[in-house]
Amino acid sequence: MTKLNECTIYQIYPMSFQDSTGTGMGDLNGIRQRLDYLSTLGVNMLWLTPIYRSPKRDNGYDVADYRTIDPDFGSLSEMEALIAEASERGIGIMMDIVANHTSTEHEWFQRALAGDSHYQAFYVFRDQAFVDAHPVGSVFGGNAWEYVPELDRYYLHNFDPSQADLDWENPAVRSAMADVLNFWIGKGIQGFRFDVIDMVSKDWQAMRMSNGPRLHDYIRELNRASFGGQEIVTVGETWGADLDHMRHYSNPVGDEFSMVFNFEHLGLGCDKWQARFGPQTFKQVVSRLQPGLHGQGWNSLFLGNHDLPRVVSYAGNDDPQWRDVSAKQWAILLHMLQGTPFIYQGEELGMTNRHWQRDELRDVEAINYCDSHAELGGAELSDRIDRIARDNARTPMQWDASEYAGFSDAPPWIPVNENYRQINAELQVSDPSSVFHCYRQLIALRKQLAVIGHGDFSLLDAGDPERCCYVRVYRDPETGVQQRLLVLANLSECHQEMPHFSSALEGKAPLISNYQDAQGGGGPSSLFRPYETAAWLLQDP
Ligand code: GLC
Repeated sequence: MTKLNECTIYQIYPMSFQDSTGTGMGDLNGIRQRLDYLSTLGVNMLWLTPIYRSPKRDNGYDVADYRTIDPDFGSLSEMEALIAEASERGIGIMMDIVANHTSTEHEWFQRALAGDSHYQAFYVFRDQAFVDAHPVGSVFGGNAWEYVPELDRYYLHNFDPSQADLDWENPAVRSAMADVLNFWIGKGIQGFRFDVIDMVSKDWQAMRMSNGPRLHDYIRELNRASFGGQEIVTVGETWGADLDHMRHYSNPVGDEFSMVFNFEHLGLGCDKWQARFGPQTFKQVVSRLQPGLHGQGWNSLFLGNHDLPRVVSYAGNDDPQWRDVSAKQWAILLHMLQGTPFIYQGEELGMTNRHWQRDELRDVEAINYCDSHAELGGAELSDRIDRIARDNARTPMQWDASEYAGFSDAPPWIPVNENYRQINAELQVSDPSSVFHCYRQLIALRKQLAVIGHGDFSLLDAGDPERCCYVRVYRDPETGVQQRLLVLANLSECHQEMPHFSSALEGKAPLISNYQDAQGGGGPSSLFRPYETAAWLLQDP
């Protein structure tokens, strides 16, 4: 397995990646067909969002059996073939572990409903008095307690009513989950992504559903009982992690995870539906986390995933005139940082959000939101959905200009983004100036330059809302040679003077840039063009 500092992980949303059977739904054999594409891109690991048997109320995050593949996606032997074929290309597979809850169709929950007290203790069943004293709202809207008349008790579901929270205070639950991990380790899995892992320890006194008192104990226990001490990359999804928690999670002793996802840099705030990306927030958070974890933990680097809007639409400018340079700008700004980058499928093409009609939405969260926010009125609601809804990230991968974007022969389960004729993999793989090749170059640079994986970080222009400039420095302990990596970005749509462009850079070709001419000859000047971004490597003796 490639080292964390040289590794880039690619996230696949299997439902929307490639359909091989003509059902309109992606599957494992579809992923196998596209391994050469992923190998050309140069990624080291594929994180697959859940592919286990599931009723898919929440697209697989409602697991009915952790050890079987959902028939919509294929079979266990196809999964084994995928693991083997990816491995032949030096690519590992990362499984998504949904440890906080199961589907109510899971056998454990069904047995609980049938009166089996052993399995009732797997879940958070409580009586009326407890529920009255502990009101909880679901992340997907409504009450998080569901009444079961036959048992005269309520069970907790922090998400959809079909996603019942497991009770991690019960050691049998923790050991059952370690068994699941060991099952997949036995199949040759090289990574795990842990879904909402900070919710497994609840704090009933403070009425917080995450970051409870035993959280880190549970993770250390899971580490010891399964992936610990092995060459396995682990990442926890932790919406509530601050720097202190992050250091615990990703401590250099290695008794928890390799890294976690912290979302602060995206500025989603307490009401994500009203969020707008702020480059200042991004800069502030990055300049706290990069030095804060340097030598004391490990960063994950990401701007998109299956729950977030498309990077170029949310963080950048998806207007056709600017889309290309803007997508590359955010790619360069992110990939020149210390950490392990995650690319969400289609991000490497600059795929964008789309405009939604109410009946095209598929995500339970977006549908509930529309139902409960009708008072906002059509235009405002539609604007929020178009900007933030998770379905934006879930439209089919745009492979080529043929019908359904080469994703399927049949109408897909969710609409294809209308811009697939302009934005698709076929066009970009053959065009060296494409967004795809910018990502490809960034992935390669990380493997070549120690300063990207190891260098320290200083932000050069903290208060400036229109530029993002930073420097990374690394001295090779053996040769004594110091590498400096300078990254300069104009975040605005206008030409701007770049104060950090010194005469030393004049005529010096950048390592990478989002304007084509920069590669060929003179390179950028101190007057940066709209969204112009470039990185230089400077060697000091
Ligand atoms: C995580 C997943 C998201 C899912 C939720 C509940 O946030 O990324 O897609 O809906 O957990 O499992």
